[in-house]
Amino acid sequence: MEIIEVIENKKDYIELLLLADEQEDMIDRYLDKGKMYVLNDNGIKCECVVTNEGNGVLEIKNIATVPEYQGKGYAKAMIDFIITKYGEEYSTLQVGTGDSLSTIPFYEKCGFVRSHIISNFFTDNYNHPIYEEGIQLVDMVYLKRVL
Ligand SMILES: CC(C)(COP(=O)(O)OP(=O)(O)OC[C@H]1O[C@@H](n2cnc3c(N)ncnc32)[C@H](O)[C@@H]1OP(=O)(O)O)[C@@H](O)C(=O)NCCC(=O)NCCS
Repeated sequence: MEIIEVIENKKDYIELLLLADEQEDMIDRYLDKGKMYVLNDNGIKCECVVTNEGNGVLEIKNIATVPEYQGKGYAKAMIDFIITKYGEEYSTLQVGTGDSLSTIPFYEKCGFVRSHIISNFFTDNYNHPIYEEGIQLVDMVYLKRVL
């Protein structure tokens, strides 16, 4: 298993990016400025994009595992890689996500704790309602962990 930085043609992984963030112009807000990594284990299984938010804060903007390979530890391995790679350079790793049982328990398993909410983020910023597990996402929930 290896994790490789993607420098060019990040949109080659658009299918995975859209799994985590279903509106492409929202992905465009962070893809260029972000650092992108892919996990290769007999093929690409997981991708992640992180951005420097200033003041020692690194943010996970997008993380997704190929559906058939979810639940096998690939995204956790990606988070562990990010923690090791950026642990000395940054003090906090944060992530914003919908209030959904398909994502928050994953981050909690990875050591993140709920930090704050941005009210109406999904309804204000996306051009269509976003549903996860049949529930419309409204607020962005931020979770953090110390690096
Ligand atoms: C969220 C996501 C990235 C997790 O990836 P994954 O590779 O399946 O996660 P892992 O296998 O590394 O899981 C790590 C741990 O979290 C747990 N976990 C993962 N998803 C979970 C869920 N929905 N509910 C409860 N626990 C979950 C796993 O059971 C595992 O626990 P363990 O260490 O005790 O075995 C994946 O489900 C995904 O790609 N979802 C679609 C895209 C998305 O929503 N991305 C996040 C946007 S904010």
